[in-house]
Amino acid sequence: MTTIQPGDETARPGAPAFAAPRGCPADITRLYGTTPDAGRDELWAALRERHGAVAPVELETGVRAWLLLGYHENLTVLQNPHMFARDTRRWREVAEGRVDLASGRPALSWRPNVLYADGAEHTRLRGAVVDALARVDMAATSRMVRQLCDELIDGFIAEGRADLVAQYANPLPVLVVNRLYGLADSYGHMLGDLTAIIFDEDAKRGEDAIARVHQYFSGLVDRKRERPGPDLVSWMLEHPSGLSGHEVAHQAALINSASHQPTTHLIGNTLRTLLSDNRIRGAYTDARLPVQELLDHVMWTDTPFQILPARFALQDMLIGSAEVRAGDALLIGFDSAHRDPAVRRGDDAGTGVASGSRAHLMFGAGPHACPARELAKMIAATAVTTLNERLSGMQLAVDPEELRWMPSPFLRGLRALPVSFAPGEPSSPDPGDSASSRGDGRRDPSSPGAEEDDAVEGDLLDRLLTWWRGLRG
Ligand code: HEM
Repeated sequence: MTTIQPGDETARPGAPAFAAPRGCPADITRLYGTTPDAGRDELWAALRERHGAVAPVELETGVRAWLLLGYHENLTVLQNPHMFARDTRRWREVAEGRVDLASGRPALSWRPNVLYADGAEHTRLRGAVVDALARVDMAATSRMVRQLCDELIDGFIAEGRADLVAQYANPLPVLVVNRLYGLADSYGHMLGDLTAIIFDEDAKRGEDAIARVHQYFSGLVDRKRERPGPDLVSWMLEHPSGLSGHEVAHQAALINSASHQPTTHLIGNTLRTLLSDNRIRGAYTDARLPVQELLDHVMWTDTPFQILPARFALQDMLIGSAEVRAGDALLIGFDSAHRDPAVRRGDDAGTGVASGSRAHLMFGAGPHACPARELAKMIAATAVTTLNERLSGMQLAVDPEELRWMPSPFLRGLRALPVSFAPGEPSSPDPGDSASSRGDGRRDPSSPGAEEDDAVEGDLLDRLLTWWRGLRG
């Protein structure tokens, strides 16, 4: 039997198979159901105490997985694609009929995209995604992000109160990515609405939204084939790896889904930290704590992804004291890894920032590591900086204990972040007229790659937009 020990990043397969007994049901922790109001932070320590570095969990009734709690175990699994696949079709729960990958639940599905691919197929798809992202002009995009932040703030600054998740952190990433697809903001608002429904708990509405999102990306590829421009989709279409239109649509859909919620909750959790931790806020305000270090601190202590699904064991092995069988799912436990006593140290003197916070695993490791970490950090840094520049006297509108976490076992983010501040003036003369606050599709002509929303009269994208506007009345 292969044994994976902490720090064993080069372990190789080759051990005989064995039939490991399943754990006693009393020992298996449910990750579904009600999220405790205070989040799950206490759970990881309790599981570590009971099971060591790896704990048996259930994702749904009867759907088993292993949760990796130790920092080194998580890193080892991420860095060893020859022992742990990313392709969900290798999961025994799928083979034995307990999980239907076509159900569309974001964490328990399979799509023909780079995230679920292994080996040569992964290399082929990733080449197109990485090369397209590398062509993004970061300076121009940074100005575009600032403009979108200003427009979103203009939508609520006069009110003196806002929900910074719903009105700011949630719409921003999808608007940015949508501009990188070369589309006007109205499409971004539509896509944001549809993806929010997918992450909602209403399965029926979720299925319809998945079908609409599918139409959105097919329509986007059709349009870019007809009218290529300086944008991510056109660059993937023209990439030498020769992706089909269908494949490009799936990579574009992944870029949207992979970027949206983590960036939203990185922004939301950073704002929550600033609003609830006076030491951190003081250090940030008097410039002892640069925004990038603030983000590292949040990704270490308040991770937007608490669990990343998943890797699938390609052989039987022992990890810690867990007897893992080929086909078992291993969940990457970011939050628990960052709380592992083996790597967690105290705070740096003065600022309240956790020591070693740059060792966070938030952008993954190994072949699937996030190809857009600089872009993601730039979006989050711009969002935090712009908000702090624009809103004076910002404070939480509820007690910190009243803030509620998302129910997802995977994401660690707030449902809402209500704040109050001194009412201020919009930066543009008519805030209701800005493209991103109104979602009507007009845009700043200086936006990289952005086109008008009626560029190809009557195509699939336009018909979808007409349907969505009808829904909004
Ligand atoms: C704070 C924001 C973000 C975080 C924390 C984050 C984190 C991650 C992580 C952990 C992975 C690895 C998944 C795995 O190993 O299974 C990943 C992959 C990926 N991310 Fe990000 N990401 C962020 C933002 C973005 C953005 C803005 C984009 C694109 C515009 C993006 C595009 C992708 C893509 C395409 C992959 C798949 C790569 C592959 O499978 O080879 N991410 N991200």
